[in-house]
Amino acid sequence: MSFYLPESVNCNGEKFEVFISKEQIDARISLLGKQLDKDFEGKKPIFIGILNGAFIFLSDIMRHVTIECEVDFMKLSSYGDEKVSSGEVTELKEIDAKVKGRHIILVEDIIDTGLSMKYMVNRMKMYEPESVSVVTLLHKKEATKHDVQIDYVGFEIPIKFVLGYGLDYAQEGRNLAQIYALNEV
Ligand code: IMP
Ligand code: MG
Repeated sequence: MSFYLPESVNCNGEKFEVFISKEQIDARISLLGKQLDKDFEGKKPIFIGILNGAFIFLSDIMRHVTIECEVDFMKLSSYGDEKVSSGEVTELKEIDAKVKGRHIILVEDIIDTGLSMKYMVNRMKMYEPESVSVVTLLHKKEATKHDVQIDYVGFEIPIKFVLGYGLDYAQEGRNLAQIYALNEV
């Protein structure tokens, strides 16, 4: 399969440049998959992807996992069409899976302030799962101000606005195969 891999892209009138290449993403996801295989062997976890941003990462990470597992989705919104979080989490879609007594792996594209993930972890615990783990592709560590659980991180990144590989800017750019960062001057 061949991908469109430009060095820079325009999105909503702003210029973004490659920040994490497809090669780097693939290599990291392969390692994360191996780690999850080891940690969840025999536990038949349920991966819960947080829509929309996590859909590409979730589908790639699941294909690197070889153990028995299931998948479900939850949809949250906190950004609207802006580059900064609205500070409020809205639940747009609930999970369907019965998670009581099961091992849950929450899959997120990026943890910024930590608000969304903190909300998700608390929400999942209400269903009395056996365990809740958190996987995020990206983590803006310096921006995280909520006390949030994070078990597996693809890449720690500085405070930059990024898009591609599922992440959007006002709903655009999710289809890019690499991660791009805003070229701020
Ligand atoms: P938090 O609740 O502040 O941690 O924000 C997490 C959510 O905001 C993520 O699930 C993303 O959907 C979105 N987000 C945070 N930073 C970025 C970014 O740099 N680009 C695109 N979306 C982002
Ligand atoms: Mg998201």
